[in-house]
Amino acid sequence: MNVLERLRTVFGAAVPEGADRAAFAQAVRPASDPRFGDYQANGCMALAKVLGRKPRELAQEIAGAADLAPLAGPPEVAGPGFLNVRLDDAWIAAALHDLLADDRLGLTPPARVQTIVIDLSSPNVAKPMHVGHLRSTVIGDSLARILQARGHRVVRDNHLGDWGSQFGMILWGWKHQRDEARFARDPVGELARLYRAVQARIQGGETAVEDAAREETAKLHAGDPENRALWSRFMPHCLGALQAVYDRMGVHFDVQLGESFYDPRLASVVEDLQRKGLAVESEGAIVVFVEQTEAPLIIRKRDGAFTYATTDLATIQHRVETWHPDQILYVVDHRQGDHFKQLFEVARKWGYQAVDLQHVAFGTILGKDRRPFKTREGDVVGLESLLDEAAAEALKVVRENSPELEPAEQSRVAEVVGLGAIKYADLCQNRISDYVFDWQKMMAMNGNTGTYLQYAYARTRSVFRKGGIAPEAIRAQRPAIVLTHPAERALGVRLLRLPEVLELAAEELKPNILTDYLFDLANAFSTFYEGCPVLKAESPARRDSRLALCELTSRTLKSGLNLLGIDVVERM
Ligand code: ARG
Repeated sequence: MNVLERLRTVFGAAVPEGADRAAFAQAVRPASDPRFGDYQANGCMALAKVLGRKPRELAQEIAGAADLAPLAGPPEVAGPGFLNVRLDDAWIAAALHDLLADDRLGLTPPARVQTIVIDLSSPNVAKPMHVGHLRSTVIGDSLARILQARGHRVVRDNHLGDWGSQFGMILWGWKHQRDEARFARDPVGELARLYRAVQARIQGGETAVEDAAREETAKLHAGDPENRALWSRFMPHCLGALQAVYDRMGVHFDVQLGESFYDPRLASVVEDLQRKGLAVESEGAIVVFVEQTEAPLIIRKRDGAFTYATTDLATIQHRVETWHPDQILYVVDHRQGDHFKQLFEVARKWGYQAVDLQHVAFGTILGKDRRPFKTREGDVVGLESLLDEAAAEALKVVRENSPELEPAEQSRVAEVVGLGAIKYADLCQNRISDYVFDWQKMMAMNGNTGTYLQYAYARTRSVFRKGGIAPEAIRAQRPAIVLTHPAERALGVRLLRLPEVLELAAEELKPNILTDYLFDLANAFSTFYEGCPVLKAESPARRDSRLALCELTSRTLKSGLNLLGIDVVERM
């Protein structure tokens, strides 16, 4: 059990009979200010109201009943009825000593292992992948890593949009204005060009082109041999280009089942829903009425075409049959909120009540003008060029800070720093909010950035390099931990928090809970590093204890960043 869990258990048991123990326990959290100790129980005021008692008096009573030993002495009653907990120094030192020998940094398996399917990235292929898909990929990957580290069984599924109307546009473009030579040289570039060209004609009001493109999609779905053959010819190129981006980002999937995979099931999904009396005919279409929204969910259009929703229903069916998941998480733009609300309701009516379906929504990436992020040409930013730009921006930072590194090493570090900066800037936001994309801010050496955390990690490593000491040797030696300086203690308390932070991040599906923690940890390390000489400590015992704190910080930062999908470098 982690520290927070242990405190919550004790406090929950200490409240008077009949009170809401869970709510009281839930209000125990890390202290917002070190003057209030390390943790605080803030539930007395609310509980006193319910019980019709005086808050301070109730707080005194709970303080008397809460036996926190050996973690801490009796809680202190403060203000109108806060309970402040200060962890016991000897206990912290002993716990850190244990942590040195623990490869898992205190993480323990969950009470019940869950199977969780994560629907992430899921771009529409054959159009250039754009910055909007960055968020789903980065947030989804981090959540997968966090849930896996918690001990759950995770299935990462890239639900590719490989069957939509963009193919009709490309097919029409191919038949009327293709450039074979260019396709031979750069197939994905040519497909993107065709897509843009046809899109421009449609947007320019050429309804004949629009109708013709729709017709091509319908023919593809109906099994037209020519369109199917072209689709099969285009797909490997599209997938190859995507794979290059994923490889560079260090993101992998367990399965990539695109919309096309579900096509053969769609007719039977509609039939089944009709048979069960859930789907009905309405104005020539087949629809399911849902309580939450006025418009029904259309599962077959008047022209016979199936929809995005039909595919998503078939996908739920397949996922449940294949993996029997406890939960399916959809890491998708918040603008699809209504779609998922309707989808989940229909799925539940259809019989999928046991699986917890959740839309993990996120906001939009904005430019400095606070409008959706675009390049100078006014194009939606392509993901690949964005990664190139990140590496180029990072190279400037690396050249300035580490002129002593070889140029090849500078480039390697720049790739890690650039990618880390982009990922971190995305993950440190409350995912629901929009955020402004800003190179300078995201690569600042100071502040809540990936660069600052990578730098903090490199600092922990440089201590060992300078001292000619291997971190593994300190781990093996397991020196006694001495916490005399306040900065040592503050760092130590934070080093014990990783397990509780991951649990909170997993519960709320919010990687920013982890980034906040890592930032706090890096700050505590920085204060420690400035205030407590390590290699020049007053005594060998002090030195070894401080090296042990460096080792633990190093491992915690590296693991934490890894759970965000961010790499570290030894020097920068
Ligand atoms: N391909 C869709 C898009 O780019 C996202 C798919 C999300 N996943 C799902 N199961 N609907 O908008």
